[in-house]
This record gives sequence, structure tokens and C-alpha cells, in this order.
Amino acid sequence: MTSAGRKRVLSGITATGRLHIGNYIGAISLWADNQDQYENFLFVADLHALTIPEVVAGESLRARAEEIIALYIACGIDPDLSTLFVQSDVPEHAQLGWLMICATPVSWLERSTQFKTKGKIADVDAGVGAGLLCYPALQAADILMYDADYVPVGEDQHQHVEMTRDIARRFNSLFGGTTFKVPDVLARGPGSRIMGLDDPTAKMSKSVAARQPGHAVALLDPPDRARKAIMRAVTDSQPAVSFDAPLAPGVDNLLTILECLTGTTRAHSRERFDGARYGALKDAVADVVAERLTGIQARYREITDDRPRLARLLTQGAERARAIAARKLAQAYRACGLRSPARHYHGLPFAGSAKDRP
Ligand code: TRP
Repeated sequence: MTSAGRKRVLSGITATGRLHIGNYIGAISLWADNQDQYENFLFVADLHALTIPEVVAGESLRARAEEIIALYIACGIDPDLSTLFVQSDVPEHAQLGWLMICATPVSWLERSTQFKTKGKIADVDAGVGAGLLCYPALQAADILMYDADYVPVGEDQHQHVEMTRDIARRFNSLFGGTTFKVPDVLARGPGSRIMGLDDPTAKMSKSVAARQPGHAVALLDPPDRARKAIMRAVTDSQPAVSFDAPLAPGVDNLLTILECLTGTTRAHSRERFDGARYGALKDAVADVVAERLTGIQARYREITDDRPRLARLLTQGAERARAIAARKLAQAYRACGLRSPARHYHGLPFAGSAKDRP
């Protein structure tokens, strides 16, 4: 809990690939809806993107991180209400990440579903990087750094938050004291798992979207292309929507997208679409998605047209984050018996204001 009495929220998205409507529905729109109620720390995980170097090699992570911050703002995150930053702008994440790695048993890391599945996508002949194995420890550093109460993430990340809780407890018991607060997941309910349009049995994914054009709708896709992808979405072999039998995964997914974007319920969809042809459902989804993308993209252009302002917002976010991160890192160093990391800042530029020096 923060000084203002508001609960603190921390969340982020890895900077691999382009953000899509699954990220928007499952995470970003939820952050935007909650920003009056919570104190938000929202970031772009560019250090995590390096855990599969094969995917990011040859592209500018810096440009990608800025694009994502601009998109967060375009999706309704207010950079004055929420602290928005890029992970690598706050070097304390990497420093605390090391302490987390040291406090995490390898057996926990090996159990990560993401490690098991992403390890297969990566070029295994070249060898999966140790960073992919240690991914959840760095994620724990991201979360524990800010004494987050809640972590709003899609279902695929729940296991990592669980591990963060275990790592916090283990660190506290190894080094004594109560350095870290144990956070909780903030679950979205419907919409926390938007599925691929071409394969509604698999989660919509940035890395799959890079290889399969009809898989996702990216937030920066031209609205026409988004419409086409939705019209081609896999449903089932029936001609019309029927709520009498269990819905096919592709139909359920389209309804979820529509309901999340319009704030309506399944009961409302049932009234509107029972017996309707799939084409009518897809048209309705395509209209709503195209309209939402048009608004987001207009704001995105405004933000990216004013580069100096975007640069200022990135600095402002990094400074606010560092003011808190530096203190927590110092506390964790002390708990481990290390010398204070603050020594390193004397005489060196420090991103926070003088009063925030640790
Ligand atoms: N692992 C998250 C993803 O794949 C990104 C992430 C990194 C994150 N650190 C985090 C999410 C901390 C929530 C909290 O998108």
C-alpha cells in the first residue's frame, strides 16, 4: 500500500513482436480501466525480450520499446496518472534480477511452462540461453522492486506470479526480515485469454503472429486488414451460431472479443446472435475492432509525431520508477550483507532527483 493509501499495481509486456488485440483486451485495457483506483507501474520488458536472442537479433529493441510505450498511451494509459517506463532505463531491474537468480532453485525455473514451450521455439541447436531459464527470476525482480500489491496479467503469466510469491518468501526467509511484499494476481475474468483467429485452441501470441499472417490483429494493422483477418477467422462447420450446444472455440473467442470491447455480456450476445449466420457475427466483431483500432491509431500518430514529448515522458517515467527502485535495491543489498549500491551513484549521473538518492 502506498502513501496515498492506494494499492500498487505493476505489470508489463515483453517487447517481442507487435502488440495485438489479445494484449489490449487481456492486459492494457484493464490497466487503463484501473488507473484511478490503483497506483500503476507499467513497463516494457525489453530485457526479457533478449531471452530469445534469435527472435530479436537484427531489430531495434529501442524502437520497439518506444512504440509500445506510445501504444500504451494511445490505448488510454495516462502518463501522468501511471508511471510508464522501459525496463532497461531502470538498471536496478538487472541488479535485483541477479539477487533473485541467486535465491531461486533451478528446479523451480525448470518447471516453468513458458520455459518448456519457448525453449522449443528457440533454435535449440544453437542452445537455449540461460536467460530463458532465469526469465521468471527477472520477472520477480520487476514485481518485488515496487512492493506491488497486484499484478494484472493474462492467464499464461499466472505461474510466473506464483513463482514470484515463492521467491519473495524464500528471499525473506534466507536473508531475514521482510524485504519483499508477497503480491497477488489480478485476474481479468473473460478476455484474459484471447485465442488465435486461425487456431482458436492456442492463445493469440506475438511470436506466432510474426510467422502466420491470419493469426492475430495487431493494434497497428490497417483497419481493413483487421477486418479481413476477422472475416477469415476459424469458426466451425455449422452455418449459424447456436447457443444450444457448447460453442465452438472460434465462435466463443469472437463473442469474447466483442463483449470485452463493447462492455456487454454473454446473455446480451445470446439474444443478439442466437441463430445468426457466422458472417453476421464476424461483421459485428470486425466493425467494433476496426473502430477501436482507428481511434488508437489516431492517438498513436499524435504521440509519435511529437518525438520530444515522447522522449520527455520516457525520462519522466524512468525517473519516477528509479526513485523507488533505488531504495528497494539498497534494502535488498543490505539484507544480503552487500555494500550499499548507492556508493556507485556518487559523482555519477543519477536519474532521480537529489532527494530521492538512496
Ligand atoms: N512475462 C511477461 C510477458 O510475457 C512480461 C513481464 C515481465 C511481466 N516482467 C513482468 C508482466 C512483471 C508482469 C509483471 O508479457
